[in-house]
Amino acid sequence: MAAEPRIPDFLYGTAWKEDRTAALTELALRTGFRAIDTANQRRHYFEAGVGEGLAAAYRAGIVTRADLFLQTKFTYKRGQDHRLPYDPSAILATQVAQSLASSLDHLSTDHVDSFVLHGPSSADDWTEDDAEVWEAMRRERDAGHARLLGVSNVSLRHLEQMEASHAEMPSFLQNRCFACLGWDREVRLFCKERKIVYQGFSLLTANPEVLEHRPLIAMAERLNATPAQVVFRFAHGIGILPLTGTSDEAHMKQDLASADINLPADVVLAMESLMG
Ligand SMILES: NC(=O)c1ccc[n+]([C@@H]2O[C@H](COP(=O)([O-])OP(=O)(O)OC[C@H]3O[C@@H](n4cnc5c(N)ncnc54)[C@H](OP(=O)(O)O)[C@@H]3O)[C@@H](O)[C@H]2O)c1
Repeated sequence: MAAEPRIPDFLYGTAWKEDRTAALTELALRTGFRAIDTANQRRHYFEAGVGEGLAAAYRAGIVTRADLFLQTKFTYKRGQDHRLPYDPSAILATQVAQSLASSLDHLSTDHVDSFVLHGPSSADDWTEDDAEVWEAMRRERDAGHARLLGVSNVSLRHLEQMEASHAEMPSFLQNRCFACLGWDREVRLFCKERKIVYQGFSLLTANPEVLEHRPLIAMAERLNATPAQVVFRFAHGIGILPLTGTSDEAHMKQDLASADINLPADVVLAMESLMG
């Protein structure tokens, strides 16, 4: 079996970039990102464009496939538009296999480093459909098409039900992170106890009140950083693997540089409960 990938420090997210996807993916790699998040969900992502960006970076000698952590997702039909990456009349296990095969084709690779269930079939419960999809994802992993598995947009209840069903637990969890919910505290704690890597998205867009918080702005100034950088550095500090979807080269550089900000441990602690 192939070695497990190194867990990255930052994920570059490729949603909502449409015809700029290839150029922005290549730019992100030129700027220093080595981990890319996408999904085989044409409604919000242009995965083939991500593949074009990767190919351009390979041609330019910026990176090789071995340098990269590539993550994609399986999305149920209800999360898709008419541009489906599978036959919707096929059983779910076949949909999973077809979706991943199409992702590998888009990304011109024989495996992804992480394959994520984009969201469970019900907002309330971990259902039999989810169990069937998860089992199919496991088979894809065991066949070598993915190194690690993840789930996204899940609640503590989903996770507890998943665990109670004796399912193999994921390596990654990817959720929107609201400061008013203690930055998804209860799910983060569940993950921490089980060594599941928590990936946080919308760290900036879901939390405008944090970015406008006067003491935080003042502290950012003292650290010669931006409030956005403080949020990303804080996220690292509490064990979140952050995503950024910036389309701006200067912000790409700032987001990566946030890892070097010297944020005191007591500030990290205070920020964790700043809004909830
Ligand atoms: N699993 C899911 O269901 C799900 C859902 C949503 C997103 N995601 C993933 O997460 C990725 C990121 O999404 P997101 O919601 O976190 O972000 P996003 O929607 O891509 O937006 C990031 C925002 O933050 C701004 N920004 C980034 N760095 C900044 C900086 N240093 N200073 C100021 N502004 C900055 C960006 O503006 P500029 O462009 O001007 O920099 C942009 O407006 C997506 O691309 C996708 O891969 C997954």
